[in-house]
Amino acid sequence: MTATEEEIAQAARLLEQGQLVAIPTETVYGLAADADNPQAVAAIFAAKGRPSNHPLIVHVAHGADLSHWAVDIPPLAKQLIAAFWPGPLTLILKRAPGVTAIITGGQESVGLRCPAHPLAQALLQRLRQGQGGVAAPSANRFGRVSPTTAQHVIDEFGAPGVGPIAQVLDGGACAVGIESTIVDLTRLATHGPVLLRPGQISTQQIERVLGGSLALADQAAPRVSGSLDAHYAPHTPLALIDAGQCADTVATLAAKHRQVVSLCIHAEVPGATRMPADAEAYAHALYAQLRRLDQAGADLILVEQPPASPEWQGINDRLRRAAFDSAGVLQRLLEASV
Ligand code: TXA
Ligand code: MG
Repeated sequence: MTATEEEIAQAARLLEQGQLVAIPTETVYGLAADADNPQAVAAIFAAKGRPSNHPLIVHVAHGADLSHWAVDIPPLAKQLIAAFWPGPLTLILKRAPGVTAIITGGQESVGLRCPAHPLAQALLQRLRQGQGGVAAPSANRFGRVSPTTAQHVIDEFGAPGVGPIAQVLDGGACAVGIESTIVDLTRLATHGPVLLRPGQISTQQIERVLGGSLALADQAAPRVSGSLDAHYAPHTPLALIDAGQCADTVATLAAKHRQVVSLCIHAEVPGATRMPADAEAYAHALYAQLRRLDQAGADLILVEQPPASPEWQGINDRLRRAAFDSAGVLQRLLEASV
């Protein structure tokens, strides 16, 4: 189902009143509050259970005046904006003095993104004649898999009006399916542009526009909660293994009466959920499948390791983090006696 004009107008009113509204974007659903209202933004942290020093991305309308949010915007930012906005790219820039510290996590930078989803754009165009912004993290509880449908948001937070969210704008399943690529442009003189989080827009695509290389995040990089190792994780332990080992591993675990569910691209495993061999289609399906498999009450979610080529960069990053907390679980299950 797709939200109506009236629902979009209602969402804009609720945001202006300081309420939380879940919104579709092309990446994942966001839990939005008026970025100019610190109390409303504080309610996002309470709802998610997110530590207050983790900064939020501000989402702006196409064509919005960025000087309300950022200062000293470098020419490289303008090149990336021209190439990828509206779209799944977040830029970290020097924050303008008026941006509330609760959005920036007390840092001197601000994350800005102009989402491509038509409902998100329609909503943003209505906020202060297109000059407002919404602070929105992914609409999941802290550390969990991001939602890619309106129903996922309701599963996380309860129905609108019952839980902390006043309204959920339904924009269908998110086209991209994994969170935006994040590039830090605040330390150009010392570090150049830095990739903080890979996404569908790859390092190579960004480098082509920049005409130079993109550094990888280092210890000095600004905090990105998505860069905590254990993040984006289902409750069920998850293990990544090479295609060639999937079938044998599942057979060994079945013989030990372990319940295993699996996500495979090529591997022939009985009962496996078949994933697309195309990276974009895989990303689109990934979080919905992880949520579904997490419901199975299995001992393990086994995921066939996708290819290492550039278009899989964002997917491999999320799978590696999803598996982080369960390092060693597969080995223990394999070594356990029946
Ligand atoms: O695709 C997306 O980016 C989705 C949709 C809703 O737009 N949003 C999203 O938000 O993934 P969230 O909060 O779950 O992840 C945003 C990441 C966090 O890891 C946060 O730390 C980082 O962006 N971030 C935000 N502002 C930042 C800043 N000023 N400096 C460094 N990192 C920042
Ligand atoms: Mg998130």
